[in-house]
Amino acid sequence: MQQAEKHIAIFASGGGSNARKIIEYFRNSDQIAVKLVVVNKRDAGVLEIAESFSIETLVISRTAFANPDFLLPALVERNIDYIALAGFLWLVPAFLVDAFPRRILNIHPALLPKYGGKGMYGHFVHEAVKAANERESGMTIHLIDNEYDRGETLFQVRCHLEPEDSAEQIAAKVLALEHRYYAAVLEQFILKGEVNADSMSEGL
Ligand code: GAR
Repeated sequence: MQQAEKHIAIFASGGGSNARKIIEYFRNSDQIAVKLVVVNKRDAGVLEIAESFSIETLVISRTAFANPDFLLPALVERNIDYIALAGFLWLVPAFLVDAFPRRILNIHPALLPKYGGKGMYGHFVHEAVKAANERESGMTIHLIDNEYDRGETLFQVRCHLEPEDSAEQIAAKVLALEHRYYAAVLEQFILKGEVNADSMSEGL
């Protein structure tokens, strides 16, 4: 079998529906492979998903996550080139951001810079969007830096909201966009070094 050129580690904390989409998307790729799923909760659903695809998993404690002597060798040993955060709720430590410059991507379920920052994740985001009576929401894929949800935006896509949409309905609309685009954005960024929004929507 041909060796995959680029290796991704997915970091996730929850159910892992985005992780599943990414794993499925690259399953038959000979250029990109998901090699590792890093999880910060032993009961996270994403663990089962990774195992069902025979992808190695690593459950980390807060202490291990903050320790360069643990995490960096674990990533280097597996030749990880890129990290995709997919519903990962801890702030990535500075040593990791420095070790993977422009190589850590995050997905956020809103149109950053709105509805981002510490504590803004999952349903909290959609509840805030609902409370503000927004007519649109969407998702953002961005590079990470040392603050929550602040790095350079690579790709953003919007969805229309109806006044009667509940926070759950908003979440479903946004998640559908996440599932549709995250893996393809990762692929384009990894292979071409940039994301072309026009080609992204034409190709899908
Ligand atoms: C996704 O909606 C993702 O955008 C969000 O968590 C969800 C994870 O779902 N991430 C954040 O809110 C980060 N601030 P999943 O586990 O089913 O992929």
